[in-house]
Amino acid sequence: MPDSVTPAGRDRPGPAHRFGSSGEVRAALRRVRYLADEHIASAVYLADRLGKPVLVEGPAGTGKTQLAKSVAELAGARLIRLQCYEGLDESKALYEWNYRKQLLRVQAQRILDEEPGPAAAGWSELESDIFGEEFLLARPLLQAIRAAEPVVLLVDEVDRTDIGTEALLLELLSDYQVSIPELGTITATQIPLVFLTSNGTRELSEALKRRCLYLHMGYPDRAREHEIISARIPGISSQLADQVVAVVHLLRSLDLKKQPSISETIDWAQSLRLLGSGRVSTDQAASTLYVLLKHQSDIDKAASQLSATASR
Ligand SMILES: Nc1ncnc2c1ncn2[C@@H]1O[C@H](COP(=O)(O)OP(=O)(O)O)[C@@H](O)[C@H]1O
Ligand SMILES: [Mg+2]
Repeated sequence: MPDSVTPAGRDRPGPAHRFGSSGEVRAALRRVRYLADEHIASAVYLADRLGKPVLVEGPAGTGKTQLAKSVAELAGARLIRLQCYEGLDESKALYEWNYRKQLLRVQAQRILDEEPGPAAAGWSELESDIFGEEFLLARPLLQAIRAAEPVVLLVDEVDRTDIGTEALLLELLSDYQVSIPELGTITATQIPLVFLTSNGTRELSEALKRRCLYLHMGYPDRAREHEIISARIPGISSQLADQVVAVVHLLRSLDLKKQPSISETIDWAQSLRLLGSGRVSTDQAASTLYVLLKHQSDIDKAASQLSATASR
């Protein structure tokens, strides 16, 4: 099957084919300082080839949001972000009518109607006027569909909304179109790359998952985390990066309330560098654990593990 064919009879724009292979994606991500493993790179490659959204799920601080940002950067595309939260509704996600402007328009019409001379526009004319383009406020989902230039749409932390709000996304994710009762159906002229992220705080609906490729984003292995630190903190010594990664991986093996994330690892490495360490002593590690861990019970547990390891 030629890869430009659209799914069964649907009038849907074709995928953009921005990348030649998953290896190409990985190398391009590296150039914008995002270190992907093969799994991440192939998900991005296939999303682009198949014209499908990617649902990226995993713990906080593992690089889910950054992946969408970095893909936008490397593709030279505009990033359009919908930050999800409890209570997010259509008027903030999709579109809303500019009510104040509509009201002004109606009031202006009334004034015109009172003036002597030929009768001004009737109600139906006025109605089609105030429900026209000029009075529409496009929110991120509609902006992404209507964009003429390449865009990456990031629907961030989709698990923060309720299941009802997820339904707003379904038409867009399967057909890249949205329906507005007063204006009709608006179809994308090009398929945007879409990333949805979830911290997994609740199960997402099957309907939503069915439309997406699924990418689980866990903590990186030691080699990749070392590379991430080196990419994000230019000039850090390889020895310090090694030590940071070793400690962080040791801590992740403990039973903690909240494991240190990649962003916290970077913050810690940066802090140690600012404190002037070329290498970390156990004392220094223990006295700066608050950069890595955010529960006192975790800090206590980590500190005693560090001193036990040091005295071995
Ligand atoms: N693979 C990676 N390559 C480079 N930097 C990364 C990577 N993963 C995470 N980071 C760093 O960690 C930070 C936090 O990642 P983020 O995407 O905000 O996490 P999440 O959205 O999963 O909570 C990013 O701003 C980036 O600096
Ligand atoms: Mg995020």
